[in-house]
Amino acid sequence: MKKIILPLVALFLCLSAVGQTFVPNYDEAAMPAFTLPDPLVFANGSKVKDAGAWEKRRAELIQLFASEEYGFTPEGKVKMEARKVSEVQDACQGKAIRQELDLTLSREGKSVTLQLLVVLPKTSHRVPVFLAYNFNGNHTVTEAPGVRVASSWVRNFPEMGITDNHSNESLRGSDTKSWPLDSIVARGYGVVTLYYGDVDPDFDDGFKNGVHPLFGGVRDSSSWGSIAAWAWALSRITDYLVTDKRIDHNKIIVLGHSRLGKTALWAGANDKRFAIVVSNESGMGGAALSKRIYGETAWRINTSFPHWFCTRFRNYNNNEGALAFDQHELLALIAPRPLYVCSAEGDKWSDPKGEFLSCVYASPVYELLGKPGVGTDKMPELHHPVGGTIGYHIRAGSHGILLYDWERFMDFADAFFLKK
Ligand code: GCU
Repeated sequence: MKKIILPLVALFLCLSAVGQTFVPNYDEAAMPAFTLPDPLVFANGSKVKDAGAWEKRRAELIQLFASEEYGFTPEGKVKMEARKVSEVQDACQGKAIRQELDLTLSREGKSVTLQLLVVLPKTSHRVPVFLAYNFNGNHTVTEAPGVRVASSWVRNFPEMGITDNHSNESLRGSDTKSWPLDSIVARGYGVVTLYYGDVDPDFDDGFKNGVHPLFGGVRDSSSWGSIAAWAWALSRITDYLVTDKRIDHNKIIVLGHSRLGKTALWAGANDKRFAIVVSNESGMGGAALSKRIYGETAWRINTSFPHWFCTRFRNYNNNEGALAFDQHELLALIAPRPLYVCSAEGDKWSDPKGEFLSCVYASPVYELLGKPGVGTDKMPELHHPVGGTIGYHIRAGSHGILLYDWERFMDFADAFFLKK
């Protein structure tokens, strides 16, 4: 008997050590009681009564999110150089111009090059664009043979022949389902995308690669993590996009799925040039309320991805109740700009209801600023988008970004952009 029990105990201890025994809570009844902080009340207890006071409260919240969750982004400027690498006039069935660009960011003798893919409908007027990272390289979002294979570090994917952290041809066009470029272009929108690993490779390397070293090596418990770095680079790309005369600078939509949805929200919170912010199934650390303890938790995310947030965020491991803020306040930071949040029924890990409730609790800030919020506190049916200046939908299916989602984002954007 001992012979069996001892190895079992050893196995259990081992699995616990790497966190494999984590059992997510998917039971509403098992959630702890919690009180959400009111975005319209300052830390000192006084109430936010008008738009002017909201700006001050907004600044207070940004400090709080930076210090406790995403980390502070350094203030220093980078030098930026753009170089056109390729251009074709017949992308998307002849309806779009596709360019590849190298955007090199340099500082203190170090530099990082981001490889942008820009697909813009052929038209004589300036176009609205979606700015969104891709997960596996520009060559995965289109089958077009000319688009470069990602050259920075990628996750291994042995089934596809990627075993040395370098991508290759085998992934070309592998994610076109998430990137319905023809349909997007047909509706008059452009897409600017790049591989997020160009900005900061997604593994815990002690912040030695990617853009972090441009700002020196000194770090403390509130220094920026990878999400903040990815968000910062979206703003640097926007510095470039506003110099492109084919793009409508007042219609840049920042969008992200999952970890990149968390990124899009933090980017949108910090940079008011993003006219619309879209979070697709961003979950924990994104749109979902942390205090609900439903699906992914602070401990789980900080353990699986220790480089995403600042290290102070670990103070909330199994201790979400101690957070002085919650993610509805992140959404509120985007007010009064339009914000679209979406969930998938099967993506319980991201806590669809927690994402919807965040929209509900962010709404009073929109209302204070004279805009309707999400307009209901009743979780909508599947495939029934709701909302005003905050839009929300939940669709059937699992974690992913599909044509259905893109169509809803464009319906939402049209409602603001085409309005007279
Ligand atoms: C993991 C992680 C999530 C994240 C997701 C993704 O599931 O736990 O927080 O959103 O990866 O980025 O796909």
